[in-house]
Amino acid sequence: MEIPKIIIDKLKIAKNIVILSGAGMSAESGVSTFRDPDGLWAKFSPTELASMDGFMSNPQLVWDWYSMRLNVINNVSPNNGHKAVAEMEKYFDDVTVITQNVDKLHQRAGSKKVYELHGNIVENYCSKCHEPFTKSILELDKEIPKCEHCGGYIRPAVVWFGEELPQKAFKESVIASQKADIMFVIGTSGEVYPAAQLPFNAKNSGAFVVEINPNHTALSQYLDISIHEPSGVAMPKILENYLIERGRK
Ligand code: OAD
Repeated sequence: MEIPKIIIDKLKIAKNIVILSGAGMSAESGVSTFRDPDGLWAKFSPTELASMDGFMSNPQLVWDWYSMRLNVINNVSPNNGHKAVAEMEKYFDDVTVITQNVDKLHQRAGSKKVYELHGNIVENYCSKCHEPFTKSILELDKEIPKCEHCGGYIRPAVVWFGEELPQKAFKESVIASQKADIMFVIGTSGEVYPAAQLPFNAKNSGAFVVEINPNHTALSQYLDISIHEPSGVAMPKILENYLIERGRK
């Protein structure tokens, strides 16, 4: 795979790097995406499993599904794509990761500034009084836990359809996108807003926007360049080419 030289040229003068990642970023770690043919939404119903209505009508079913996903996450590791993104912090003034992923793999790879636009499924809180639930759920039996303050059902700290994004994370993400010199849009179908708006914020503010995705997406035609490769291949290669150009390798 050849990395177009323009990406390396842009990186050489870049100070602020922004990564916008989606489920494809974690695919090579063994975490399912949502909208690929074998993705989660091909097998499960988002209305049943990723909405407050779904949770209220069958809390145990929803709890079991997230426990299953948490179990997957606990048994996988960050891949070479996550690692290359984390390593970029050594070479650029500012690297911001904006992720739609709920798996904390960016943080586990060592990225320090990570905005979780869709929350995460590692933490939990009470669906009724919103108190955080801090007990490790692995220590509990399989029954959905109840809040020790109000008795409400405990839910994962993920953002469901119809719910607002965490305001601070989203605001900071817009600001970072507007300040970006280069944005990498990695492994997202670009179907879910407002996350999918951020590449436009970046582009309209003058950033060079690179898509990394084996497939064409809803965003492809609007971005500066698309690399049709898996992120675990493309991101290490981009970093390697940059370091060779800078004479650091
Ligand atoms: P999608 O499942 O919609 O898209 C995943 C994208 O990853 C697709 O465009 C794939 O082509 C691409 N892909 C697959 N393997 C890849 C690889 N190895 N390297 C790079 N790209 C790869 O996932 P998202 O865009 O993240 O919301 O979906 C957005 C939101 O919709 C999710 O955060 C989730 C879902 O409903 C919540 O859970 C709140």
